[in-house]
Amino acid sequence: MARNKIALIGAGNIGGTLAHLIGLKELGDVALFDVFGGVAAGKALDLMQSGPVDGFDSAMAGGSDYAAIAGSDVVIVTAGFPRQPGMSRDDLVAKNAGVIAQVAEGIKAHCPDAFVIVITNPLDAMVWVMQLKSGLPHNKVVGMAGVLDSARFRLFLAHEFGVSVEDVTAFVLGGHGDTMVPLTRYSTVAGIPVPDLIKMGWTTQEKIDAIVKRTANGGGEIVKLLEKGSAFYAPAASAIAMAESYLKDKKRVLPCAAYLSGQYGIDGLYIGVPVVIGAGGVERIVEIELDAAEQAAFDKSCASVRELIEASKKLVG
Ligand code: APR
Repeated sequence: MARNKIALIGAGNIGGTLAHLIGLKELGDVALFDVFGGVAAGKALDLMQSGPVDGFDSAMAGGSDYAAIAGSDVVIVTAGFPRQPGMSRDDLVAKNAGVIAQVAEGIKAHCPDAFVIVITNPLDAMVWVMQLKSGLPHNKVVGMAGVLDSARFRLFLAHEFGVSVEDVTAFVLGGHGDTMVPLTRYSTVAGIPVPDLIKMGWTTQEKIDAIVKRTANGGGEIVKLLEKGSAFYAPAASAIAMAESYLKDKKRVLPCAAYLSGQYGIDGLYIGVPVVIGAGGVERIVEIELDAAEQAAFDKSCASVRELIEASKKLVG
């Protein structure tokens, strides 16, 4: 059986890390694309040369010709510009909407059957632009944000409780950014919900509130520290989890920016919700009942994503 083929559009910090993880996990061959074809080709060659040391045979090629992504099973998109200190993800709309529209044309022309994962920010609006401009089915176009946001939440909770990250689950809803909605009652340590852990004296509501705030600002904290560019290791790992679930038909339940057509009372919007990812792409949207406060927070998050979509429509409409 032929190896899977994964196209990475954008060969910057996240793109390079994605290619490395694909090699180490032997997920398939890689086509790296970037407007700077030399950077893509150089990284591909460098990474392929780590194969003999690490024991993988993934073929990796880089360039700036869209024809090279033909036949890809998965496309992961990071093309665009990352945040600089002082910038919000939303400030990126003007820069990145046009880039995504261009990438969507390339995907439509060369691999319209692929499963497409968008990482470029502002995420929820960029995945909307990708679907609109590529014309791919909604279940084959998703955005990576929730896996990353919940990973950050899980890490901070694990530190607070002094337990392994492996035993902490977290549940987040909504847009990627300040309006993200972490659901503490569905976040657990070995199945014990966070509100019960508060009652058990493991932590306090104040500490959980601070962790929620730190999670929502998780990307900004790193942008400030790096001074140049934004997070890339954890975003890449998160997108790989999604790609792997699709390629291996694992049917993992992962929070992703998915297209809602009536679920949660929302129609025509990409936003973060838990979904099942398998060989059919987004096979199911998990719709839970929200209490009044959670619904209000989710609605607020949807409103802010809608604003970004309206701004994107003006640019690429
Ligand atoms: N087509 C293809 N590649 C492009 C295009 C384009 N039109 N425009 C820019 N690029 C490439 C750049 O040349 C660069 O190599 O996209 C790459 C982006 O890489 P980085 O600047 O290193 O950014 P990265 O950290 O990888 O983040 C990419 O993901 O998390 C988001 O906010 C982040 O939007 C940003 C994206």
